[in-house]
Amino acid sequence: MMGKGIFENRAYKLSAQILFICLLMFMVHPGPLSAAGECPQNRKTPTAPKEFLTLQNPLPLNDKTLKAGENLFQIQSKPITCKTCHGVHGDGKSDPGFESTPPARNFTCAETMEALSDGQLIWIIRKGSPKTSMFAFPSLSENQIWQLIHYIRQFSQK
Ligand code: HEC
Repeated sequence: MMGKGIFENRAYKLSAQILFICLLMFMVHPGPLSAAGECPQNRKTPTAPKEFLTLQNPLPLNDKTLKAGENLFQIQSKPITCKTCHGVHGDGKSDPGFESTPPARNFTCAETMEALSDGQLIWIIRKGSPKTSMFAFPSLSENQIWQLIHYIRQFSQK
């Protein structure tokens, strides 16, 4: 009788521990609010200073500009390529095994992208977004960043 009581007590403790661990895993998990590729997307990035916000892309939108932007995004940008975090298709789904915190911007989401000015985009690519995985890219020239901006905008224009 007594032995059974102890057994039950242990089983109860064990299931309580399992429940607690499950709860912890659920809480630590990023959850649906910050899933990669959501649209519209929750942004953690601050707004660029006023003098940037009014800037407009000076480059013509043509095949040459888009090709240059594509090369930078997919292959050339250093230390790592944009597609590592933003995904080959610009949908914010990072390369397998690579985690971006929070999930990178989903450029295919017109609702999110239309609200962001060219000036906001150039500022963030140049300076990075503090406390997120989006670091600054000082190795890119201004011209290269404008090429990238034309390229990332076309993901939401198809
Ligand atoms: C290490 C991961 C990582 C890499 C590499 C990366 N990004 Fe990002 N990027 C992010 C994250 C994370 C955010 C979203 C931050 C947030 O929630 O506001 C972001 C946001 C952005 C934004 C949106 C800023 C805004 O105001 O909403 C732009 C534009 C951008 N990235 C462009 C680029 C370009 C261009 C490259 C390559 C030169 C690049 N990123 C490389 C992680 C990355």
